[in-house]
Amino acid sequence: MAKEIRTIGVMTSGGDSPGMNAAIRAVARACAYYNVRCIGFYRGFQGMIEGDHCLMNARSVRNIISRGGTILKSARSKEFRASAGRKKAAAHLKEIGVDAMVLIGGDGTFRGGQIFSEEYDIPVIGVPGTIDNDIAGTNFTIGYDTALNTVIDAIDKIRDTASSHDRLFFIEVMGRDAGFIALNTGVGAGAEEILIPEEDLGLDRLLESLKRSKRSGKSSSIVVVGEGDKIGKNVYELADYVTDNLPDYDVRVTVLGHMQRGGSPSCFDRTLASRLCVKAVELLLDGEKNVMVGLINNKVAATSFDEGLSGDHAINKELLRISDILST
Ligand code: F6P
Repeated sequence: MAKEIRTIGVMTSGGDSPGMNAAIRAVARACAYYNVRCIGFYRGFQGMIEGDHCLMNARSVRNIISRGGTILKSARSKEFRASAGRKKAAAHLKEIGVDAMVLIGGDGTFRGGQIFSEEYDIPVIGVPGTIDNDIAGTNFTIGYDTALNTVIDAIDKIRDTASSHDRLFFIEVMGRDAGFIALNTGVGAGAEEILIPEEDLGLDRLLESLKRSKRSGKSSSIVVVGEGDKIGKNVYELADYVTDNLPDYDVRVTVLGHMQRGGSPSCFDRTLASRLCVKAVELLLDGEKNVMVGLINNKVAATSFDEGLSGDHAINKELLRISDILST
């Protein structure tokens, strides 16, 4: 029989994302509702290793649903990758009496959680929190929707100045391994070209497309570049390359960077975080372990870590075709 769960720990790990606070709140409030003690660990796995924690009740999470960032802070712990680090973390959980963990983060967080749970038989549930949306087992990760809106807002503003000065802007957006942000904001902001890690469109095609834009009478252009794009040049080199080959263009570069990870979460992200985290607590109380929760076809569903980490969460390449048609 599964051990009774009296105390649940929660932490946020990896790159932060808007909605992580809404997720922490939902874990703490669901624990309070079900009469379970809730312990928050600071700085993800590192806080578990160092025993850096706090008791969380329903009131400790007041007024955080609308705040960006994470009150528990986030980190990528190198120490946890070694078995000695995980041993220390398990000893701390035992000392404090933590029976199970909710881990809010991306694929690295889930991988760490899976190994830890298998080594120390501590039930773990993963909640996908990353702006990159690059996790199978959910249609949307917490923070992705807010990041899309932040990026769209920024591109719209850049479009204004691009148009005033008849310029070509290369705008780099986040997504180390995945082009979800680039592709969707590129279509949403009406970019002339979108470069993503999943598809190497090649430099020749980029030049051709920009030449076509000029010929068709466009005086300003936006190219959205996913940071993990594989075209072989970073965004500044790309801008230089285009300037060298198409001297008629007045080229500028904007790297949106970490502003994409901040800000008050959208309603969608707050609701998603709330739904997923209530489910995470309920699954633990039902004796479930080593799964991630996600939203699949608007239903909250649990998927094994194995499937969630290896499964296919492909971008929608149809959007590239749409972009081609609409940037005519
Ligand atoms: O994983 C999310 C992400 O925003 C990536 O898109 C980006 O490459 C990375 O984090 C940057 O993280 P950091 O600057 O925190 O190392």
